[in-house]
Amino acid sequence: MKIIDLRSDTVTLPSPEMRRAMAAAELGDDVMGEDPTVNRLQEMAAEMLGKEAALLVTSGTQGNLAALLTHCKRGDEVIVGAEAHTFVFEVGGAWALGGLGLRTVPNDEGGRLDLKEVKAAIRFDNDHFPRTGLICVENTHNRCGGTVLTEEDLAALRHVADNRGLPVHLDGARLFNAAVALRVPVARLAARANSVTFCLSKGLGAPIGSVLCGTREFIAEARRYRKMLGGGMRQAGVIAAAGIYALESMVERLAEDHKNARAAAEGLKEIAGIALAPPPQTNLVYFTVDGWRLDALVRRLEEVGVLCFDEAGRIRWVTHYGIERSDVEEALSRLRAVMAAGA
Ligand SMILES: Cc1ncc(COP(=O)(O)O)c(C=O)c1O
Repeated sequence: MKIIDLRSDTVTLPSPEMRRAMAAAELGDDVMGEDPTVNRLQEMAAEMLGKEAALLVTSGTQGNLAALLTHCKRGDEVIVGAEAHTFVFEVGGAWALGGLGLRTVPNDEGGRLDLKEVKAAIRFDNDHFPRTGLICVENTHNRCGGTVLTEEDLAALRHVADNRGLPVHLDGARLFNAAVALRVPVARLAARANSVTFCLSKGLGAPIGSVLCGTREFIAEARRYRKMLGGGMRQAGVIAAAGIYALESMVERLAEDHKNARAAAEGLKEIAGIALAPPPQTNLVYFTVDGWRLDALVRRLEEVGVLCFDEAGRIRWVTHYGIERSDVEEALSRLRAVMAAGA
C-alpha cells in the first residue's frame, strides 16, 4: 500500500538532481563568511526578494526569532496576528529568549490583520507602557488556510506602520506560494516589509533551511543573533546548494501543488458531511467533517495509508512535491471508503 503523506509540505524529500547539487557543492566555513555556495544563495535570495542582503538560517522559526530580536529591544511589544505561526507554533521563543511581549490582534478569514485593531494596539509614548517595536504579518497564512495576502493588503498594513514609524516583518514561510498564486514576482510581496523570512524546506523541496532578508545593516545584526541561537553552521553550502536548486527549479512547480489542492477540494466537497474551511487558495486544504471525532478519523485514515493532521476542529491536507494528482484521487477514494464504513 502506498503511503500518501498529506501532513505537511515539510515532509518533502530532495529530488535526485537536488541531491547531486548538494554533493557537488563547493564548501567553506560559513561562520567565517567563507562558504561560496552559502554566499551565492544569500546573494540570489536577496536579489529575488528585492532586498540588500540575506542570511541562511536553520529554520523558519529561527529566522523569525532572529528578525524579532534584531528589530526590537528587551521589553518591547510585537504586534502579531492571533493565528500567526510566530504566536502559536514557535514555542514562545520571543518572550522566553527575547524578553519580548507578543500583542495579538485578530486575523480575518483571509489571514489579514485587522488594521483598526493594529492601530489601537500600537502604544503611545508613556513611561507606563512598553514600546511597540514591530508588526508581524504572515503570507501565505497557514492557520487561515494557506490564504494569500495581496500587494494591496500589504500596502495597507505598511501605511499603518509608517504612520507610527514602525518596521514590519513578514513571515513568508510560503511566500513563493503566494507569488505563484498571484502570478507576481516575489519581490513585489516582499517590498512592503523591512524584513522577510522564507522557507526552502517546505514546498520548495529542500531538506533544511530558511532565508532571512533585509537591509545590509539589519542582516549584519541578525547574523549575530543567528550565532547566539546556535545557527552558525560551518560547511553549510551542502544545504545552500539545495536552496539554490530550489530557487532555480522548484518555484514554478508550486502551481502543481495548488492545482492538486483544488482537485482535493473538489473531491472533498462532494463527500456528504465535509465542508471546506475555507476553499484552498494555495497548497493547504482545511476541512471539517460532521459526525466524526477528528482524531479518530485521522487514525482510521492512517490505517489505510493516508497521513494528515487534525487541528483546531479541522483536518488539514497539504499538497507538495511528491504528491501527484493520482495520489490525491487515491486519498479521496480511501477517505470515502473510511467514511462509508462509519465512525
Ligand atoms: C507560516 C509559518 N511560519 C514559520 C514556520 C516555521 O518553519 P520551521 O518549521 O522551518 O521552523 C512555519 C512552519 O510550518 C510556517 O507554516
